[in-house]
Amino acid sequence: MDRVASEMAVAAPPGVDPTAPLLLFDSGVGGLSVLAKVRALLPDAPVIYVADNAGLPYGDKNEAQIAARVSGLLGRMTERFRPRLVCIACNTASTIALASVREVLEVPIVGTVPAIKPAAAMTQTGVIGLLGTAATIRQGYVDRLEAEFAADKVLLRHGAPELVAAAERKLRGEHVDKDVYRRAAAALRTMPGGDRIDTVVLACTHFPLVAEELGEAFGSDVRFIDGSDGIARRIAFLTQGQGWQRQGDDIAMFTRDEPELARLKPALEAQRLLRSAIF
Ligand code: DGL
Repeated sequence: MDRVASEMAVAAPPGVDPTAPLLLFDSGVGGLSVLAKVRALLPDAPVIYVADNAGLPYGDKNEAQIAARVSGLLGRMTERFRPRLVCIACNTASTIALASVREVLEVPIVGTVPAIKPAAAMTQTGVIGLLGTAATIRQGYVDRLEAEFAADKVLLRHGAPELVAAAERKLRGEHVDKDVYRRAAAALRTMPGGDRIDTVVLACTHFPLVAEELGEAFGSDVRFIDGSDGIARRIAFLTQGQGWQRQGDDIAMFTRDEPELARLKPALEAQRLLRSAIF
């Protein structure tokens, strides 16, 4: 082989199996808000969506529990499904376990972290609200994002586990009392400076699923931002030039069988997850 040919052989990127799926992971249906954006950019991508409903809600668990659960499950799932890329479509899991999961898994991993940077660019009043799970809002990761991107702003954080349950119920077609949304808005509004909030970071992937209801509760002078657009762009960038070939219907996997999973069918089908299975 001459020099040029051997250099080309070394430089050639390893071929990616066009049937290898993207694997999106969340504790529940929250990651569907991310999947919707991924679908818009990569409509041909085969997808496995994993909801760890046996572990839901993550937001009430401690750091060690979440880290162990997420790395254990993702390790087993990447072995079984051989995804080309994993997206942790969950702020709680990402802010706690992204670094450690990246250390142990070979596959590219895209995480979901609170969209504090774009919020800081959007706010006019300088006061930003952040709604997340109780576990997310206490993370050093969030402190670091705040220090790096919003040091000259006021960031008011509120843990709203009720909103996770509300999104789960909504996507099952169940009634949700609007007080849940009013309570979340009031919790931020009544903090010192909270009346000046004009931008709210939806720092849990469940929350964009109830953005309309939150919009009513906060009023029209507040804008919401979440990380899903950036994540979809990042996934598209990392898979640029790769082929996509679907072998069958995309699949939603759950870690626990529950009779009420059947009620999620319309929400799953809306994201073209036409089959369901238990992991
Ligand atoms: N969807 C998840 C997040 O983005 C967490 C919901 C939960 O399990 O508490 O944080």
